[in-house]
Amino acid sequence: MARHLITSAIPYINGIKHLGNLVGSQLPADLYARYLRGRGHDVMFICATDEHGTPAELAAAKAGKPVADYCAEMHDVQAEIAAGFRLSFDHFGRSSSPQNHALTQHFARVLGEQGLIREVTEKQMYSVADGRFLPDRYIEGTCPNCGYTSARGDQCDNCTKQLDPVDLINPHSVISGSTDLEMRETKHLFLRQSAMKAKLADWIDSKTDWPVLTTSIARKWLFDGEGLQDRGITRDLSWGVPAQFEGAPWAGMEGKVFYVWFDAPIEYIAGTQEWADATGGDWARWWRTDKGAEDVTYTQFMGKDNVPFHTLGFPVTILGSGEPWKLVDYIKSFNYLNYDGGQFSTSRGRGVFMDQALSILPADYWRWWLLSHAPESADAEFTWENFQSSVNKDLADVLGNLVSRVTKFCNAKFGLEVPSEVVLGERETALMAQFSEGLAAYVKAMDAIQVRRSAEELRALWVLGNEYLQAAAPWSVVKTDEAAARGIIAFALNLIRLYAVLSRPFIPDAAQAIMTALDCEDWSWPEDLDTAIRALPAGHRFTVPENLFRKITDEEREDWAKRFAGRRD
Ligand code: 2FM
Ligand code: ZN
Repeated sequence: MARHLITSAIPYINGIKHLGNLVGSQLPADLYARYLRGRGHDVMFICATDEHGTPAELAAAKAGKPVADYCAEMHDVQAEIAAGFRLSFDHFGRSSSPQNHALTQHFARVLGEQGLIREVTEKQMYSVADGRFLPDRYIEGTCPNCGYTSARGDQCDNCTKQLDPVDLINPHSVISGSTDLEMRETKHLFLRQSAMKAKLADWIDSKTDWPVLTTSIARKWLFDGEGLQDRGITRDLSWGVPAQFEGAPWAGMEGKVFYVWFDAPIEYIAGTQEWADATGGDWARWWRTDKGAEDVTYTQFMGKDNVPFHTLGFPVTILGSGEPWKLVDYIKSFNYLNYDGGQFSTSRGRGVFMDQALSILPADYWRWWLLSHAPESADAEFTWENFQSSVNKDLADVLGNLVSRVTKFCNAKFGLEVPSEVVLGERETALMAQFSEGLAAYVKAMDAIQVRRSAEELRALWVLGNEYLQAAAPWSVVKTDEAAARGIIAFALNLIRLYAVLSRPFIPDAAQAIMTALDCEDWSWPEDLDTAIRALPAGHRFTVPENLFRKITDEEREDWAKRFAGRRD
């Protein structure tokens, strides 16, 4: 039994995430966590909400709520939707937790003591009316590029041009609307990432088995242009982890908090501490190499836009501390999922959001489509046609149909019990050989976290079962040789149990429905197929499950395509 630490990028608190966000981190992380648990490994799977930063403050202001209340409510909303998608976190934490406050300040202090934080005085937009400095997103004005009147200080949402607040025409404060803005001197803390460039480069170079998407982004940031830059890690906000605290190796940082990207990844550790505080577990054996984490394998999941922060920023925090923290072993990153000829858009409400998805179909339908079309080697696209065809063919016609035909036929001819012991004839022996090969390919793909490939291999296993049943034709055989027909069905019922075990990481609810119908709790991974195919003995009682999957009709498809094309209401 090995020990696996798995983290998914933590979603921002402001609003419900769309399916593109889900497939870029949480869902594949869940697939891997479930798979490893299924294989009998010891897994710690952590996620959380990312609660600091201007987006959280602005969303709370828009909702007319104190930011702490807003975050607490939205955390519960996101946790409930995650549960609806059957995301099997060991803990779903909050980056605003006391544990994360303490740990973030700990890292900042230690990094300061190691000489990796420097103080920088710079000029920044100050709002006289509001009596405070304004972070980029608190300034709006007209885009100098396209004329859009609500461009933000850091970027224009209309033409996507990156901006500096001073570029804006008629800039004003988002808080008060005041245009009485001036540039004033202020002090910020910078993380000296550049000092660790060589160390990071060696580390990335040693990761020859990482996805090219991950290493290419890391290299770009390390070497392109002037190379890795130091990064400002404080902001003028009140919501966040205070940058001035007892024992801090600097002074004069009152009224400032750490930048959200400094404290967010630290929440992976703090989230594990939250778990430990809630359960009495031991977080250090997952994170401290001096306390048992030296044999932990740590895998991170994220969208490509998060890669720089996980290959550079967070490793600087970990390595720079000089303390024995567990460093990531493998970073699985994803491209983007597009939506029906364009992009998913949170601001425009374009695409399907996680709550909406669950309101029209159960989690397994989405899990299957998203994972089997995960944007691994390139961006992928969600279309309703493709979704309908995948669900109807793979889930309803292949797996669902097999389960239904076998259980119903058995009930009709032999009653609700396994009608014979499993005896391997020629056809079954041949099937077992193919199955064993297919299973090895599935395991190989899962071990390598090749998500799409794993789905293909799993589907191929389902197809084998269908082909077997079609060729064995118990409905004909029963007319002349009842004993042989019983044998075929006993074998097929056992195959179905295997499908539940193997498919569980992808479609946990359907897997559970199969096992419940088979009145079986043996979820053990089929390390030995010959034994596994005999798990349900002759006489074992079962029930016929409800249809596992229903088909999506053309009318539904058209209706949904219209419904999710525009603004979210
Ligand atoms: O891109 C995002 O959704 C960020 N909230 C991810 C943060 S991941 C990490 F650093 F914790
Ligand atoms: Zn613009």
